[in-house]
Amino acid sequence: FFAQFICLFLFYLHFGIIKQIKGTNQALAEIKELLKQQIEEIVFLKNTVMECEACGMRYDNPDPKPKPSCTPNPCHPGVECVETDSGIKCGSCPEGMVGNGTHCTEVDECTVLPCHMGVRCINTSPGFRCGLCPAGFTGPQVQGVGLAYAKANKQFCKDINECEISNGGCVENSICQNTAGSFRCGPCKPGFVGDQTRGCKPERACGNGQPNPCHASAECVVHRDGNIECACGVGWAGNGYVCGPDTDIDGFPDEKLQCPERNCAKDNCLTVPNSGQEDADRDGIGDACDDDADGDGILNIEDNCVLVPNVNQKNADEDDYGDACDNCRLVKNNDQKDTDLDGKGDECDDDIDGDGIKNEKDNCKKVPNPDQIDRDGDNVGDACDSCPYVRNPDQLDMDNDLIGDPCDTNKDSDGDGHQDSRDNCPAVINSSQLDTDKDGKGDECDDDDDNDGIPDLLPPGPDNCRLVPNPLQEDWNGDGIGNVCEKDFDNDTVANPIDVCPENAEVTLTDFRAYQTVVLDPEGDAQIDPNWVVLNQGREIIQTMNSDPGLAIGFTAFNGVDFEGTFHVNTVTDDDYAGFIFGYQDSSSFYVVMWKQVEQIYWQANPFRAVAEPGIQLKAVKSDTGPGENLRNSLWHTGDTPNQVRLLWKDPRNVGWKDKTSYRWFLQHRPHDGYIRVRFYEGTQMVADTGIIIDTTMRGGRLGVFCFSQENIIWANLRYRCNDTLPEDFDTYRAQQIRL
Ligand SMILES: *[C@@H]1O[C@H](CO)[C@@H](O)[C@H](O)[C@H]1NC(C)=O
Ligand SMILES: *[C@@H]1O[C@H](CO)[C@@H](O)[C@H](O)[C@H]1NC(C)=O
Ligand SMILES: *[C@@H]1O[C@H](CO)[C@@H](O)[C@H](O)[C@H]1NC(C)=O
Ligand SMILES: *[C@@H]1O[C@H](CO)[C@@H](O)[C@H](O)[C@H]1NC(C)=O
Repeated sequence: FFAQFICLFLFYLHFGIIKQIKGTNQALAEIKELLKQQIEEIVFLKNTVMECEACGMRYDNPDPKPKPSCTPNPCHPGVECVETDSGIKCGSCPEGMVGNGTHCTEVDECTVLPCHMGVRCINTSPGFRCGLCPAGFTGPQVQGVGLAYAKANKQFCKDINECEISNGGCVENSICQNTAGSFRCGPCKPGFVGDQTRGCKPERACGNGQPNPCHASAECVVHRDGNIECACGVGWAGNGYVCGPDTDIDGFPDEKLQCPERNCAKDNCLTVPNSGQEDADRDGIGDACDDDADGDGILNIEDNCVLVPNVNQKNADEDDYGDACDNCRLVKNNDQKDTDLDGKGDECDDDIDGDGIKNEKDNCKKVPNPDQIDRDGDNVGDACDSCPYVRNPDQLDMDNDLIGDPCDTNKDSDGDGHQDSRDNCPAVINSSQLDTDKDGKGDECDDDDDNDGIPDLLPPGPDNCRLVPNPLQEDWNGDGIGNVCEKDFDNDTVANPIDVCPENAEVTLTDFRAYQTVVLDPEGDAQIDPNWVVLNQGREIIQTMNSDPGLAIGFTAFNGVDFEGTFHVNTVTDDDYAGFIFGYQDSSSFYVVMWKQVEQIYWQANPFRAVAEPGIQLKAVKSDTGPGENLRNSLWHTGDTPNQVRLLWKDPRNVGWKDKTSYRWFLQHRPHDGYIRVRFYEGTQMVADTGIIIDTTMRGGRLGVFCFSQENIIWANLRYRCNDTLPEDFDTYRAQQIRL
């Protein structure tokens, strides 16, 4: 310690800090005290060591101790005890306990969490037990002993999926969501509307309540047999389950769709309606928008055979048709008419109607009648005689109703367009004149339409096949529809779903290939007559000339009918009238829906000044004079003209049609009640709606298209359907009328 002190002292000295240490004497005193304590400690340690030696001496001479024995058993109760030379040994603790055998303690199996979450674990002696699975779960009630067991046999409680059984009790068609231990009733499933209290009903149910499988922009049509059909809405095309935009509304989509049907293919002419997709040169560009449709290098406007390649342009008879496409190469025939469709134009065909009787001998040159029957002996066969019982060799038919003037009484008590003497039900409105069993009594007033002895309605009827004879009424599937008419109610070989008139064997598909042209201003030479071209198996009509007013009328007469089509003026030239007609009975009696592009005063001020306003107009034509300048000007005029035309409705928007734009019209005519309603669509948008118009001037009639001084009009994708069902809005309308 001194040495240390000296060293320290020297250390201080060495650094010359002496002068800094003022209280040197004090420091020395402290060191002295410290030294004294150290000495005391050393003495204490020395004594301790000596004591230790003393106890070591004692250990070297131990007292003899008794040898351990197994009796009494020193081990934990139940543990085996073994005596050995070196002492006793306890076996291992019992199952469920831990320890060294002498001491065993209960193990708490619950510490390894053997029970399902949330289930109580009860530590028993020995072992453990799990409580029941919680509500909403199912699983075993685990119990056992020992940690190993507890680890290997954990309790597993499986969630019960309540939704699997009757939707968990949630309302039908709603979402049942299973959760751990429970479930939730959610909102209605997609496609259904409502909630848990009101129930979930199909959002877009088909008419029969069945869920709607159609594309969002399609309509669900329920057929009489309960089958469902999907039809793309206006401005859309496809198979109904898949629909894509259809700009020109011709039934073919702008882009190819993922479906196999024909109308899923991409439109070969996007902006010009061509519902037949005709493509003469198969270059993928439809004829309707192909500048060189036949691909012969000569543009259509210069080509004398637009659809048949003929580079040489040879044209022996110098008419408008080159030899390659002329059905009369050596005879001029710009109409190319070919009545019997034998490839030989009428102009050069020595048997125009192909009935085997040469023209010069044939009493009906244009109507096949191998029997040549001619009851009135006027040298016009009955088959084509407009008055089969009255001699009228000239066949004059002033009013274009297909009834010759001498026998045309125009007395039509029921207003269905068939004069009483010809009407097969003179007292019943029945424009279609359907007479299935050909007994001379129209179905409408015939108690047994098919003459099978089973009355249509009265006992022993009703006839389960009203239009097909089946006296035995076989009906194997018991659905109330007889076997013979199950699939084809009218036995016209066209199955019900595609038959446009399932209850009329004479009308099967929309077809304007056979049509009558009616010139509404035959005397005037104001303009040329219309030129009609029919395409797509009669479902598309094109009028190419800037013409006098004219009609192309199909031959089928209808009662109730739905008539729709796409209307398109494919030129920027001109701004006049185009439209369609319905309820045609004769050239003085029909309804017309006509659309003018811009306002215009008719250029012939006689017999009166006629002003056409733009916009869609619905007119009832009942003309005292028939075709001629009076009717012509009255048609042009937007308004009533006494004894000629009545304006039933005019689009208040006063908007004309747009060039090169497709419009779809949809007409419902129910002549029995005089119900008329027309809607117009531009693209998918409805742009005009006549609302309910009631007019009974014409109680049914024929359908057709109309033009007046406008060229290049296309009526595409035409469709008509017999339909005598009154639209629902009629009831509301009638109720209102009664209240007023
Ligand atoms: C056994 O364990 C107990 C408690 O842990 C202890 O007191 C005892 O000395 C141990 N016995 C042996 C032989 O190890
Ligand atoms: C249905 O029409 C066919 C002709 O298309 C005819 O052969 C058949 O006999 C008709 N069926 C009945 C039950 O009249
Ligand atoms: C005319 O006859 C057809 C076919 O039998 C029928 O569907 C229609 O309801 C009849 N009457 C009228 C007013 O249309
Ligand atoms: C017939 O007309 C009714 C009423 O407008 C309509 O609901 C129904 O769909 C039409 N039927 C067909 C086959 O178009």
